Amino acid sequence: MDLPLGIDFGGSGIKAAPVDLDSGEFAAERVRIPTPEASTPQNVTAVLEELAESFPASDAPVGVAVPGIVRHGVIGSAANIDQSWIGTDAAAVFGDALGRPVHVLNDADAAGLAEVRYGAAKGHDGVVLVTTLGTGIGAAIVHDGVLVPNAELGHLWIDLGEGSEPRAVHAESWTANSAREREDLSWGDWAERLTVFYRTLERLFSPDLFVVGGGVSKKADKFLSLIDVETPLVPATLRNSAGIVGAALAASRA
Ligand code: BGC
Repeated sequence: MDLPLGIDFGGSGIKAAPVDLDSGEFAAERVRIPTPEASTPQNVTAVLEELAESFPASDAPVGVAVPGIVRHGVIGSAANIDQSWIGTDAAAVFGDALGRPVHVLNDADAAGLAEVRYGAAKGHDGVVLVTTLGTGIGAAIVHDGVLVPNAELGHLWIDLGEGSEPRAVHAESWTANSAREREDLSWGDWAERLTVFYRTLERLFSPDLFVVGGGVSKKADKFLSLIDVETPLVPATLRNSAGIVGAALAASRA
């Protein structure tokens, strides 16, 4: 059978590549199309059609990673994409448009599956928390290789304690890579916020390993060692390919 196609629907680009599941590598060069200004189901579906057409025709399954909650193909939240996604059966809409079996999952869950199977968490038992630091914060909880989907840990509210200004912060708005850029934080100042975030996750989940992903993980040498937590914390190794690889992997298992 042909190789599954993985698609990653991100805030700035929608990227696709067929994936060799033995190696976890792209089997052809990745194609990227900028995310439409209005990231509505209709506009994004048109991009997916164009992406699928840029590879040889195939009946192989397609996996799509999206930046929101996904339950049985239906989108449940839209923090950084068009609100009209909420309640949309993305698996059905994409499946009709592409005429192929389509599996839709959360983007961080896709990254988590990929890092555990091929990347930084390969061979790690126990509880692995994979986080992606980008426009938002994505999170995946994987226990002994099994994913618990839709862990929206970027939307935790963190209590900074008495005397702090502000007293509580929304984790994603305060700690995502977009917050670092927006507020022009130094790596050290950003790492202080990340320390608060990861310590909160440590307290709540007692993980065995943290994997830090998202585009900024390629600059891990600038900030990772400044994050002060007990749990081993390692950079993602698949970086920006994790969404595509994990989506293709999930589609092949669906
Ligand atoms: C969304 C998550 C997503 C993350 C990364 C968050 O705002 O709620 O579902 O995984 O951004 O894209």
